[in-house]
Amino acid sequence: MIVTIDGPAGTGKSTVARRLAKLLGFNFLDTGAMYRAVALSCLKAGASDATAMGDQAGLAQIMFDGPTVFLNGEDVTTDIRKADVTEFSSRVAAVPAVRSRLVEIQQEIGRTGDLVTEGRDQGSVVFPTAEFKFFLTAAAEERARRRQHELAARGTHLSLKEILDQQDERDRRDESRECSPLAPAADAILVDTTGLTVEEVVDLLFGRIGFVPVVDRR
Ligand code: DC
Repeated sequence: MIVTIDGPAGTGKSTVARRLAKLLGFNFLDTGAMYRAVALSCLKAGASDATAMGDQAGLAQIMFDGPTVFLNGEDVTTDIRKADVTEFSSRVAAVPAVRSRLVEIQQEIGRTGDLVTEGRDQGSVVFPTAEFKFFLTAAAEERARRRQHELAARGTHLSLKEILDQQDERDRRDESRECSPLAPAADAILVDTTGLTVEEVVDLLFGRIGFVPVVDRR
């Protein structure tokens, strides 16, 4: 069974998807980390045009071990969350050759077993026949506040205004790109997470799936 969770940054998607996967006993896939890994690979190689970015996507060996992300055998879990990679990843994600390569890998992973996968296009493009599709949203200010806390926990302190501006720019790029723009699948369940805790969102999604828990939630 495939469960897709899409939506813009700051909706709590990653944490929710990871917890839901654990609860269901499913594999978990963070597709944003894949775009970030390709972005890091491009930055390292100085790949700045679409052809060079597509080549990097073809060369990059991306592996997951739980929350740890490896790029060509190197642990890049921390590096892919840095500001320059975050900014560059939405540029890389607009390149059709990069998307088609990563979509291919994601679909391969989907064939290996039950999966909760999160990203921007998982329900709309990658797994159009997924059994459950969720699209999470949240008010822009709340998303920015969550991101501010996340960054502060990693030692980066930015004003809400700076984060909102960066977020607006990334949203605009993700929503307006020609190839697989960020948009809910026609049959996705829309969930507004404004004012909800991660646990509340997980419960809500879990309730919609109607599964008997297989893993202790503590
Ligand atoms: O979810 P995230 O912030 O880690 O995603 C990083 C970038 O990759 C972001 O600009 C959106 C893009 N992305 C995408 O276009 N499609 C996906 N399935 C996942 C992420």
